[in-house]
Amino acid sequence: MVVEVLAGLNIRPGRLYVDGTVGEGGHAVAILDRLMQGGELIGLDRNPAVLPKAADRLAPYTSRFRLFHCSFSQMGEVLGAIQVQEVAGILLDLGLSLYLLEQSGRGFSFQLDEPLDMRFNPDEPGPTAADLLNTLSQFDLETIFRDFGEEPRARRLARLVVETRRRRPFHTTQDLVEVIHQALGPRRAKSRIHPATRIFQALRIAVNRELDELEKFLSHAPAWLESQGRLVVLSYHSLEDRLVKQRFLEWDRAGVMRRLTKKPLTPSDAEVKRNPRARAAKLRIAEKT
Ligand SMILES: C[S@@+](CC[C@H](N)C(=O)[O-])C[C@H]1O[C@@H](n2cnc3c(N)ncnc32)[C@H](O)[C@@H]1O
Repeated sequence: MVVEVLAGLNIRPGRLYVDGTVGEGGHAVAILDRLMQGGELIGLDRNPAVLPKAADRLAPYTSRFRLFHCSFSQMGEVLGAIQVQEVAGILLDLGLSLYLLEQSGRGFSFQLDEPLDMRFNPDEPGPTAADLLNTLSQFDLETIFRDFGEEPRARRLARLVVETRRRRPFHTTQDLVEVIHQALGPRRAKSRIHPATRIFQALRIAVNRELDELEKFLSHAPAWLESQGRLVVLSYHSLEDRLVKQRFLEWDRAGVMRRLTKKPLTPSDAEVKRNPRARAAKLRIAEKT
């Protein structure tokens, strides 16, 4: 949804924008293309491995971008450190990058056989996905599978995880896939989505405390924007979208930010055909009043 993202950010030449989830720099390149001389992009990412890739991709824009390894919830600290008070626009693209899925070796894909890590930032001390599976109570696992994975048979899966780990702890993605198959079957008759997709997503959200990070960000974001500055958030999970929707509504009512999308924008059929991973995308835009 690059076109919608760029329109949402309302790129104004010469201004300063933040891509809070810069990844390998796809959106960042498109933003820099539209910023004239004097404009600058600040890119943040929690995954240190993608920043050199983004730097390579953005190299033609030489001095017009700066990249930082941190969470978007720490945007205030970054802006403070580089003595910037306000920016003209902020983008968050909350999806999973292809790098994390296919190249990171950290167990984000149920189709590969890798250690079950799932931390966006492997330098953070927090527990890995395997740690959660091996130590959380059955109740907590069920909550994660149900709330973050929207899995109706969450209890059955959590019970089987706890039974299995008594015999052998979880280490790899395929250890988990085996138990998902046992508990939920390979695929539900009417669903095109493999049940492992949702369970892996649920664990990833829990490992990285993704909803907490988003809440922290949202509680400060208006302060980082100049008047008429835009906030654009692309989310792929109903709980993330709900947080954004509620916060936008509160801001709108309080006169802090104006919602420019009462209903989220979604990708066209053609885009979903080209990129099936975009199917759940929801784009919301707000403008500082
Ligand atoms: C869908 S990708 C972004 C792709 C990027 N917009 C592009 O066009 O290339 C999402 C990125 O967000 C990063 N990420 C996830 N949570 C983050 C957080 N709390 N702070 C900063 N980056 C985060 C991931 O590491 C990943 O690189």
